[in-house]
Amino acid sequence: MEYPTKGHYDCSPENPTYTAPDTRTDQEKADSLLNQFAEEKQLLDKLPSPEQEVAERLNKLRGQSTSPQDEVTALMRQLSTQSGKDGKDVQDSLRATQSQDVTMESDGENEEEMARKIMASVNIVLKVRQPLEQEVAKFRELSTLISFLYPAQNKLIIDQLVPKSMTLFGMDCIPRISRAQVFDALSSMANVAGYRAVIEAANHFGRFFGGQITAAGKVPPAKVLVIGGGVAGLAAMAQAKHMGAIVRGFDTRATVREQVESLGAEFLEVEFKEEGESAGGYGKEMSKEFIEAEHALFARQAREVDIIITTALIPGKKAPTLLLKEHVELMKPGSVIVDLAAEMGGNVETTKPGEMSVHKDVVHVGLTDLASRLPAQSSTLYGNNISKFLLSIGEKEHFYINLEDEVVRGSIVLHEGKWLWPPPPPPSTAQTVTAAPVAAVKDQVPPSPPNYFNRTLTDSLIYTGDPLRAKHVAGQTLCGANMLLTRPSVWQTYCWPDPLWGIHTAGQTLCGAYCWPDPLRAKHTAGQIPYGANMLLTRPSVWQTYCWPDPLWAKHTFGQTPCGANTLTISLVHDTIRFDRCFCPLQGIGGALGLGLVSPNHAFTTMMTTFGLAGLVGYHTVWGVTPALHSPLMSVTNAISGITAVGGLVLMGGGYVPGTVPQVLGSTAAFISFINIFGGFVVTQRMLDMFKRSSDPPEHNYLYTIPLAAFMGTYGYGAMAGDYPEIHNMAYLVSSLCCVGALAGLSSQKTARLGNCLGIIGVSGGIAATLGHLGPTNPVLAQMAGCMAVGGAIGSTIAKRIEITDLPQLVAAFHSLVGLAAVLTCVGTYIHEFPNFATDPAANVVKTATFLGTYIGGVTLSGSLVAYGKLQGVLNSAPWLIPGRHQINLGLGLANLGAMSWYFMEPTLNNGVSMLLTTSALSTIMGVTLTVAIGEQVVNLAQDLGARADDRKLSDQTPQGD
Ligand SMILES: NC(=O)c1ccc[n+]([C@@H]2O[C@H](COP(=O)([O-])OP(=O)(O)OC[C@H]3O[C@@H](n4cnc5c(N)ncnc54)[C@H](O)[C@@H]3O)[C@@H](O)[C@H]2O)c1
Repeated sequence: MEYPTKGHYDCSPENPTYTAPDTRTDQEKADSLLNQFAEEKQLLDKLPSPEQEVAERLNKLRGQSTSPQDEVTALMRQLSTQSGKDGKDVQDSLRATQSQDVTMESDGENEEEMARKIMASVNIVLKVRQPLEQEVAKFRELSTLISFLYPAQNKLIIDQLVPKSMTLFGMDCIPRISRAQVFDALSSMANVAGYRAVIEAANHFGRFFGGQITAAGKVPPAKVLVIGGGVAGLAAMAQAKHMGAIVRGFDTRATVREQVESLGAEFLEVEFKEEGESAGGYGKEMSKEFIEAEHALFARQAREVDIIITTALIPGKKAPTLLLKEHVELMKPGSVIVDLAAEMGGNVETTKPGEMSVHKDVVHVGLTDLASRLPAQSSTLYGNNISKFLLSIGEKEHFYINLEDEVVRGSIVLHEGKWLWPPPPPPSTAQTVTAAPVAAVKDQVPPSPPNYFNRTLTDSLIYTGDPLRAKHVAGQTLCGANMLLTRPSVWQTYCWPDPLWGIHTAGQTLCGAYCWPDPLRAKHTAGQIPYGANMLLTRPSVWQTYCWPDPLWAKHTFGQTPCGANTLTISLVHDTIRFDRCFCPLQGIGGALGLGLVSPNHAFTTMMTTFGLAGLVGYHTVWGVTPALHSPLMSVTNAISGITAVGGLVLMGGGYVPGTVPQVLGSTAAFISFINIFGGFVVTQRMLDMFKRSSDPPEHNYLYTIPLAAFMGTYGYGAMAGDYPEIHNMAYLVSSLCCVGALAGLSSQKTARLGNCLGIIGVSGGIAATLGHLGPTNPVLAQMAGCMAVGGAIGSTIAKRIEITDLPQLVAAFHSLVGLAAVLTCVGTYIHEFPNFATDPAANVVKTATFLGTYIGGVTLSGSLVAYGKLQGVLNSAPWLIPGRHQINLGLGLANLGAMSWYFMEPTLNNGVSMLLTTSALSTIMGVTLTVAIGEQVVNLAQDLGARADDRKLSDQTPQGD
């Protein structure tokens, strides 16, 4: 047998060969082992130990790192993930810096020297913490530093950078506005700290968080109280809930309630009413009485709960002391308190800031470096915040400090050596004051005796409390529709959560028997056109498209205005009070009745009624919408506004193709409106999908086809049978209510998807009712179907394919189509109706409306396109204040008025059409001059959504503070 020449025996089944016997002497074997050990030891010495690595990372996060490339490398990772177009220059220079590091390292330079050289060679330095004394000398003159700075506390060190003419941005100074959410490093750190607080609590708590029933006995779930529902508090609540605890939350700001409850926590209340929100949206310092009421609440809670996490903070102030020593002593032994506010003095009297301690068997976590205890997560979020902030400064291609930019102005501390901190307060918060308590209960503050005379006088002249329910005088019983509109909360509750609202149970017939059969309306005669609010609800598609002058309305006789004036008056009073709070009821009532005196006919009064009621509906449905839903709400509103298709459908005619100019205009308007409708609903759905978490329950949205099918089936049957002339109006009513329900649904996360589905049902119903009402011939029907199919396919394809971050601009682009459709429909209607003008008593109303419709359409068209351009980055997103813009706008307004006068004075077809085209051109220019001056809002929208799009992966774990 042949033996291999080297090695030892290897009897493994894979290699059944035999190695040669080891013939070395014992001494040789020992020497060889010793050498091998020495080699391996040397290698190990070169590798950092895991403990060392963790310690270094913690040091870095605590700002104790003296190695600048550590920070740059962490940021490098974030920057390199930014899109190429935005970050290219920055990436290039960072790459250059990194290769420089390597060169210097290979040249054998020490770290200190390397750091000095790098700092001296770069223009922009990104850091975690404020510069240390020893770093000041290293900065290059005129360079820029972005890091946490806390300028109030670090004035001395910042002053040392002044002679270097440096520019400094404080990450802690970035204003908490929606556009800056993506840069908000304080929120990121608070989020991490909130999560970590629960982990620390769990670590020191001797029991499970979640309840269990085991063979060995029943384990109750832990009870966790989180005080303060800001970013840290909400993150803590979410985490504690995920871990199975019973969670309670408290905050002084009432707006936090919904967020706390949406996390599955119980929101606690104190028996004392006081507004806890400052004008900037932060918590404010509460009155002594309120804090005492809090103490009473926390004393009760301390007996019950196992863990208390406190996060209450008032910006710029010492943290309020919310848990006193005696409360802590009420807690069960083994309970845990985590005081996140320790750094600002602590919310708990017994906390020792920066330390772990125990008071009467209650563990206190007073650590102030919780974010650093989750280093990888903190680094990722901070890297993301700071890199996006850097890339947001200036224009796309170059770094440029624009002090007009609210975020730049808020966060800049030094500008080329000049102190710019603190920034001027934003207008909305400039007058932030500590408001006095609104009302006290339980005899805590003896109320001063009210002056009833003054109160009533004020009510009667300035504010009437709830004007609709309380103030209408005898005999002025609100008509059905008004009742509906004055009590939206009731009908929302009864009607909207149930898409099949027709199936109300007995007593729940609010929309059915209670509201609608207004006895006054039942007296309508020929045409059976209901009026008042019913008009709004039954024919919105028509008024939206024609912008008020439905020729049918004009046929109302003058005497048929029983509820019109009343409703109008009340609506206007309500509107003026609610919307402006600067008119008194006298003015509202006087104005409304004045309009009644000058009203040319019933159609005008009805339109005003519709207008007032629509205002009410809009106000009640949209007011108080969760900010996070503003974008989807805007999108669904835009999709619904595609109901302009109805105006186009009404004008359509001919055969398979249109035959006349109005018909061409009508089919074009319908075609582009369908792009908007289909695209709009797809965009809304995509926006809503961004809020979805993987842990959310499954959705079965297809089930909403049941009410849609029920609607279409019932309506189709009624329309085809031909025996039910009222079915069309009721279909319009249902469709309109669905559209209102869509807006109402989009006001909260829970009902947002239902809202989108209701919008689809409403618009589909409106179009079906129009088709049923018109009864088009088969060729015209085919033409309509063609417009719908092609327009719908285009709209939904674009909406599905577009990048998620580009959705807001797509909404703006789609909305411009609504404007165009309105212009086309109005011009088409004018031409179509022209032959009737001589005999139609409502001719002037139709003419006025077509003119105003054209004007509004033109402004919408170009205004939306400008918004699109700003959001897309084609136009500068900053407000562009055209010199003399007020004069230009005034001139354009007057020119429009001139065109309108000429339009009425010279009643020929050619002149009418020319003036409509003139106003469409003038208003299109006006749309531009009006909207280029807007900047912040549109950018906010895009950034907000963009940030959400970027962060949505994180949202599975991370509750957002908004
Ligand atoms: N320990 C750490 O490592 C660490 C890290 C980050 C943040 N923090 C601290 O966490 C705390 C919370 O940070 P945040 O970003 O969530 O702040 P935040 O401003 O978002 O939230 C603070 C909340 O406290 C509420 N509040 C104020 N006064 C109150 C009172 N009397 N009773 C009940 N609630 C009251 C406010 O309404 C607000 O909702 C701060 O003190 C912050 O310094 C600690």
